[in-house]
Amino acid sequence: MAAKRGALIVLEGVDKAGKTTQCKMLVQALQQSGYPAEMMRFPDRSTTIGKLISAYLEKKSELEDHTVHLLFSANRWEMVPEMKRKLEQGTTLVVDRYAFSGAAFTSAKPGFSLDWCTRSDVGLPKPDVVLFLQLSPAEAASRGRYGEERYEDAAFQSAVLDRFRQLMDDSSVNWKVVDASGSVDDVHKDIALKSLDAIHAAQTQPLGELWK
Ligand code: TMP
Repeated sequence: MAAKRGALIVLEGVDKAGKTTQCKMLVQALQQSGYPAEMMRFPDRSTTIGKLISAYLEKKSELEDHTVHLLFSANRWEMVPEMKRKLEQGTTLVVDRYAFSGAAFTSAKPGFSLDWCTRSDVGLPKPDVVLFLQLSPAEAASRGRYGEERYEDAAFQSAVLDRFRQLMDDSSVNWKVVDASGSVDDVHKDIALKSLDAIHAAQTQPLGELWK
């Protein structure tokens, strides 16, 4: 009999919400409970496209805004065959950022509609759940200063949060809001419960196509 498919679990949220820490904790907890699980992150800076993106984020290069948006999207598409293969084999993928960051960040720039920004990601594997780690701008600020990379400033992050809120109005995506203001362990427990629900539901549902 074919293995039950794994779930595609995405963590999104503004900077400093704790996405990366929580992705790692979730993968470890799932593995310890006997669920095959792996972490992925976007951008994946290891590929040729990812290196172009990384240089842009580190402000070592300049790229035209539409161009870099499409590179972020291409960086997801290039991973799709591997993602599908792993999901079909029964591995749950825990993904740090996805197309929602793509749309929220670019559409926070002047002159970009949310609609245009989602287009290049239409048809990507659809997450079984998107966990949005919610943190107020004041709480994010209390976690220390932003780093030196592009986009790491409070005004831009607040515009990004507005765009995330608009994306969360779309009921075709299974959004779940997680209060990220609690302790790392409490946030983890909430995420783990919501992820187990998604893993069980995915076993009886085919993988969908995003925004299609
Ligand atoms: P990170 O590697 O620390 O998560 O940072 C990646 C940065 O790139 C972060 O500021 C969000 C931004 N981003 C986009 O602008 N578009 C995208 O599609 C993705 C995945 C991230």
